Amino acid sequence: MGIAAEIAEDWDAALAALAWQIESGADEVIGDAPVNRYELPVGAPKPLVGKASSVAPAPEIPAADPVEIARYLAGRAQSLDALRAALVGFDLCELKKGARNTVFADGNPKARVLILGEAPDADEDREGRPFVGRAGQLLDRMFAAIGLSRTSPDAATALYITNVMPWRPPGNRDPEPAEIAMMLPFVERHIALVNPDVIVAVGNTPLFALTGTKGILRARGNWSRALGKPLLPMTHPTHLLRNPAAKREAWADLLSLQARLR
Ligand code: URA
Repeated sequence: MGIAAEIAEDWDAALAALAWQIESGADEVIGDAPVNRYELPVGAPKPLVGKASSVAPAPEIPAADPVEIARYLAGRAQSLDALRAALVGFDLCELKKGARNTVFADGNPKARVLILGEAPDADEDREGRPFVGRAGQLLDRMFAAIGLSRTSPDAATALYITNVMPWRPPGNRDPEPAEIAMMLPFVERHIALVNPDVIVAVGNTPLFALTGTKGILRARGNWSRALGKPLLPMTHPTHLLRNPAAKREAWADLLSLQARLR
């Protein structure tokens, strides 16, 4: 057999073997080692990125809005315990990372008067209860002077106390508007669940959270409404500790509250 005839015979044999394999279903080649088909061969041109790329970049996933998430979580809470759990599980506020405790509330949830403060200080952060430091002791004495107490089991003489911020801001700085906005859905739900007759906002942060205005020294003593409730703004006890002369006005505000409750 000449060379040409041998080549033709090999060719025919190879073609026949291939056809037989394809007919038996073996229609792809599988090697011994796995092949990464996404890896570019060495030396292959890199795909274009940026403006010159003809492939549109993947759309960015929009960051979740913490206020919307807070509103959803707070709105689902059907009890104070559920609201506390929702707050404890809320991880989108940076202040939480530096806090030892989530300071939820203290007092009697049946109270006619709800006091809304600013944010925990070091003492509250340590104990996990609002207004337990020096300012809190003054607050207790002030309200005791008109017969109201956080330990009273009687709704008529009880207080319920909470803060706008459940976590201590570093160095006791004022909470930022974005932090207040994030907590507002929880505050609103908190007040709706307690359903007090009157809200007392002590300090600028609760005044701003509930009315969108600042200037507690101007606003104090002037009744308005927030969340469908009568609202009395008062100066913060920390301010009274530093400015004892302002206690006279605070006493006038307490008498105004007492008159309102009658
Ligand atoms: N000041 C506040 O406003 N709240 C507290 O709980 C303590 C200090």
